[in-house]
Amino acid sequence: MAFIELRDISKSVRAADDSELHILRGVNLRIEEGEHLSIVGRSGSGKSTLLNILGLLDAPTSGELLFDGKPTAALRLRARDRMRGAQIGFVFQQFNLLEGRTAAENVAMPLLYARDRTFWRRDALAREALTDVGLDHRLDSLPTRLSGGEQQRVAIARAIVRRPRVILADEPTGALDVETGARVMTLLADISKETGAALVTITHDENVAARADRMLRLDAGVLVPSSAGRGTDAAMDPGTGLHSDRSTATDLQLDLELDVDSTAPSTATATRARTTEATPAEGGST
Ligand SMILES: Nc1ncnc2c1ncn2[C@@H]1O[C@H](COP(=O)(O)OP(=O)(O)O)[C@@H](O)[C@H]1O
Ligand SMILES: [Mg+2]
Repeated sequence: MAFIELRDISKSVRAADDSELHILRGVNLRIEEGEHLSIVGRSGSGKSTLLNILGLLDAPTSGELLFDGKPTAALRLRARDRMRGAQIGFVFQQFNLLEGRTAAENVAMPLLYARDRTFWRRDALAREALTDVGLDHRLDSLPTRLSGGEQQRVAIARAIVRRPRVILADEPTGALDVETGARVMTLLADISKETGAALVTITHDENVAARADRMLRLDAGVLVPSSAGRGTDAAMDPGTGLHSDRSTATDLQLDLELDVDSTAPSTATATRARTTEATPAEGGST
């Protein structure tokens, strides 16, 4: 059984001109325990909306989100909060650290909501998590004294301090230079593997997305398999071990481009060029 399952998820909102904006259209997705999955798509394709639904921060307009096979729609607010706190860790583009708090205090923050003995052990656990990300010498530093890469490592320590079953990362390298971003991705992948957490990375960056075991593409709210950027192994889906579905994925994608958005850029380069331009505007939605 998939740990998290999305069934035919759609999300629509009312736009400023009172028209209906369809952000997600019939998204189906199964996330297995411990897997590293990436979702790539240009700015505005619905990535953050999808991640917020996965993270129980937002509700879909239609469709079902299941955790361990159980629907989440009927959960009361407090049960959702508890489930999110215990099972999900978040990493955002802008780190989202509290400025007036030290690294250790930021990392201990999620444990203030823990209802077990980890609440009482929060200082020690925060120290351990910061050691795991290589920042044991920065426990008492304020975020403003840390580099971007270090701030993101603090955010990763905060994401893992409650030992979540899944880490959801929304453009985790978006505010970092390429080299620092690559190091942060290596850390995220290593640390999820070590703790057994699944990792879902959403990004507009093809190179970042290509590091995952499985890569999907979000295009105008439609989620399709992607084989781009993974070299000769691309035809194998590590989730199922199935080979040679590369042509299916490519055909499907071409069909979708024709059906849904004939103006969509069809090459990775065009996608990257467009999203890079649009990135600053995205800060507000992440
Ligand atoms: N609550 C909302 N109201 C109106 N439009 C929204 C809302 N949330 C997202 N959008 C729009 O939906 C599209 C997808 O947003 P988002 O999921 O943030 O995309 P991405 O993360 O891929 O850049 C964007 O055009 C965005 O402006
Ligand atoms: Mg976004």
